[in-house]
Amino acid sequence: IPVSPFDLVIFGGTGDLAQRKILPGLFRRFVAGQIPTESRIIGAARADMDDAGYRDLIRAAIEEHAGKHSADKDAVEDFLRHLSYVPVDAMGEGGWKELQELLVDDEERVRAFYFSVGPNLFGPLAEQLRSHGLAQRESRIVVEKPFGHDLETARALNEELAQHFYEDQIYRIDHYLGKETVQNLMAVRFGNMLFEPLWNAQYIDHIQITVAETVGVGGRGSYYDNSGAMRDMVQNHLMQLLCLIAMEPPARFEADAVRDEKLKVIRALDPVDPDQIVRGQYTSDGTCASYREDAENPASKTESYIALKCFISNWRWANTPFYLRTGKRLSGRASEIAIVFKETPHSIFGIDSGRHRNVLSIRLQPNEGMTLGVTIKEPGPGGMRLVDVPLDMTFADALGEQAEDVTDAYERLIMDVIRGNQTLFMRGDEVEAAWAWTDPLIEGWERRGDNPKPYDAGSAGPDDAAFLINRDGRRWRSIK
Ligand code: BG6
Repeated sequence: IPVSPFDLVIFGGTGDLAQRKILPGLFRRFVAGQIPTESRIIGAARADMDDAGYRDLIRAAIEEHAGKHSADKDAVEDFLRHLSYVPVDAMGEGGWKELQELLVDDEERVRAFYFSVGPNLFGPLAEQLRSHGLAQRESRIVVEKPFGHDLETARALNEELAQHFYEDQIYRIDHYLGKETVQNLMAVRFGNMLFEPLWNAQYIDHIQITVAETVGVGGRGSYYDNSGAMRDMVQNHLMQLLCLIAMEPPARFEADAVRDEKLKVIRALDPVDPDQIVRGQYTSDGTCASYREDAENPASKTESYIALKCFISNWRWANTPFYLRTGKRLSGRASEIAIVFKETPHSIFGIDSGRHRNVLSIRLQPNEGMTLGVTIKEPGPGGMRLVDVPLDMTFADALGEQAEDVTDAYERLIMDVIRGNQTLFMRGDEVEAAWAWTDPLIEGWERRGDNPKPYDAGSAGPDDAAFLINRDGRRWRSIK
């Protein structure tokens, strides 16, 4: 569905995210016919460059990151014609007047300002936009994570932005919410009769959320060493996944209805005991650098891996463990939510049947899709033996060509900004509630001076993480 013509200004328009995700994503939407020709996309950054230089930079970025559509040279050139560039000084006066002149003078027109910059510039940019009269009621700002470093800084940031923009103008991106399968999770839960009646403590044994990566932190060590896996991944991405699994059905698929329900989940999370948290740090396997080398901090106590068990104290989930884990330099790249159902209450087939559990696996990446493990009779004449088989819904099989072109998370989220749909963006109170839950856990290990457990690069993480779940009589799902 095309949107109305818009002006989009990307602060940090020459940066890594703009080149890898934002502009290639916009190009793909352009090819899909979603971007009206009168729209303008303006890169803004410190570098001194003209429109032609910016177009050259973005042409190369599209060729590298926009997939098969970038082979269509005419389409690339048509898209580049929408682009212009203005050098802007976020902290000073330079460039603001020029930027103003590039924007269409129309109160009704959507203006989106994407802050693809460090969080220290969010406040100053918001202030500049207002003081230079660039922000109108139809303007919106998009901010990237990290949204704060803890509750106090997140609150300060929210207050700072609130001085210049209403909450309905602020789009806090968590790109996990833009992933195809994450939205499918909601479709599966609330679009089918099959699952929701079983979606509670009575029928579900436990839930596992895994985001395993093979990459290390090389190149972004200085940011990461100050964050760690808890701040970088759990406080935002894993928490958002947990919310979508655990929330009550909202009355409508609308921004505040959905976000109210997510907030209730975060607020119902119990504090986590220190013995239910395992932190790890990768060591070198001989083929890659260790975490401490990547972070250039030989005494670092920052975790590149974390596993924890938590509970949501409400009627639906009381006593159902949620096991969360995420880490860098693991044996595989696998992001999965696994809903592990309870065993049948009675085994009519003898010893065999009690061991079988239905598992609904929701794969975010790679190989997006869902699999429901069901128990059937093993084919053949060998009597009543039971075996688990997957009912598989791999998007690539089910949707063919369409699935190859799965919309990138950023692509979808940027178009939602233009449409004014905040459903897949975090509200200020949600972010604060998430920090309010993670802060005491982080303070706890910092106060105790805990060292993360070493684990080999390319392994499944520290042994203690396996123990965390095994001692409950359960096992982690495998990371290939
Ligand atoms: C980012 C984190 O938000 O998400 C990175 O800062 C992480 O550390 C990345 O690698 C993972 O995103 P994706 O989409 O590759 O799973």
